[in-house]
Amino acid sequence: MDCMRIKGGKPLKGKVRTQGAKNAALPVMASCLLLREQRMVLDNVPSLQDVETMIALLEALGVSTRREGSRVFFDVPKEISWEAPESLVRMMRASSLVLGPLLARCGRAVLPLPGGCSIGSRPIDLHLKGLIQMGAKVEIRNGFVYAQAEQLWGRRIYLDFPSVGATENLMMAAAFAKGETIVENTAREPEIENLAETLRAMGVQIDAEGTGCIRVRSSAELQNCAGRVIPDRIEACTYLLAGVMTGGQVTVEDVAPQHIDALLAKLEEAGASFSVEKDAATGEKSVTVYPVKRLKPLSVKTMPFPGFPTDLQPQMAAALTLSGGVSLVEESVFQARFLYAAELNRMGADIEIKGDTAVIKGVEKLGGASVKATDLRAGAALILAGLAAENETRVENMEHVLRGYESIDAKLRTLGADVIFEAGAGER
Ligand code: UD1
Repeated sequence: MDCMRIKGGKPLKGKVRTQGAKNAALPVMASCLLLREQRMVLDNVPSLQDVETMIALLEALGVSTRREGSRVFFDVPKEISWEAPESLVRMMRASSLVLGPLLARCGRAVLPLPGGCSIGSRPIDLHLKGLIQMGAKVEIRNGFVYAQAEQLWGRRIYLDFPSVGATENLMMAAAFAKGETIVENTAREPEIENLAETLRAMGVQIDAEGTGCIRVRSSAELQNCAGRVIPDRIEACTYLLAGVMTGGQVTVEDVAPQHIDALLAKLEEAGASFSVEKDAATGEKSVTVYPVKRLKPLSVKTMPFPGFPTDLQPQMAAALTLSGGVSLVEESVFQARFLYAAELNRMGADIEIKGDTAVIKGVEKLGGASVKATDLRAGAALILAGLAAENETRVENMEHVLRGYESIDAKLRTLGADVIFEAGAGER
């Protein structure tokens, strides 16, 4: 068990740079399975546990990979395996993203059902329903999905919920489907556009303009391609909240401000101020948050993009524990995403969970404690609380956090935080 020790109470000050987005890198990497004796070169790939798991999964399927800094090369041979190994799929739910491309490329796929996780049950029924509509035969036996289709067919598919993973799987499956596939009520997250760009670079004819309707026309031959992973909007927002919560001034470099509008709007509503700068030479944008005494309380509801992201809900809740009143944070995307609340309460927060809403009574200050990360974003919320709290906080089970935040301890130290990462030191 890894742990982070934080001596909190210092206003953070300085600049950090975003990593490539985990949730964009994973589907884009999976899309290389559509290639045959071809290469994908991907830039800005973050160095994270989940990315390593996807690389291991692709290698197990026959892809050769090589990393040079943040650039990764994927060489896809003529023949690949269509059976995803259970040990890797169990490690990461996003492994299910290989289903669509494997089925399109190999005519079949075997995938262990990804298990539940600590933020609620996460079925893949919408992925399977779409594939069945495209002509796949899908059977679930002994915890495995067996999918088969000599030929997939372009169809009009309506998603009952704009699931990010289902949208991505269907975009990839449609690459070789005969005719035109139209998927409606799709996810509109920026990561979807990043996948569409990469598919286009391979030669897939795809329109995905963020309108909630995606059209894919059948492609015969694909080609070598290059792509770049977009900046991680959740990581960027986490560091901006670290600045706000400690009363500091933090600049996050390489940000797409239109991807983080939901947070910026809420910060403004809570009385915080920020600025967006553009580098005249490179065109790259950065966002700075300025010291604020105390946030005003807020009502926040998570929703699919462009709504407030569920992946930022725990971090926002952590910030609101110190606001000057009662805030309501409603989770509408996942069930059971409030496991962090009991841990924050151990640090002096006053959070009561009522159904799918956290009622947060702002307190004057938080105090350090030993707390456990229950999942990736919950862990980030506890770190934020630790940075703002008096005395020492010890965040255990940091391995969850490392799935999504590259060098989080080093980045926080560049902002002046007093944090130490201890590998394997978290057992109590
Ligand atoms: C992705 C993100 C995750 C983020 C989530 C929502 C990746 C690798 N992960 O996860 O960080 O929290 O989007 O923004 O990109 N659902 C079904 N049936 C399905 C699929 C989903 O009922 O077939 C439900 C889920 O249980 C959940 C909701 O839809 O309640 C959203 O899930 P989805 O958008 O699919 O999230 P993921 O793609 O798993």
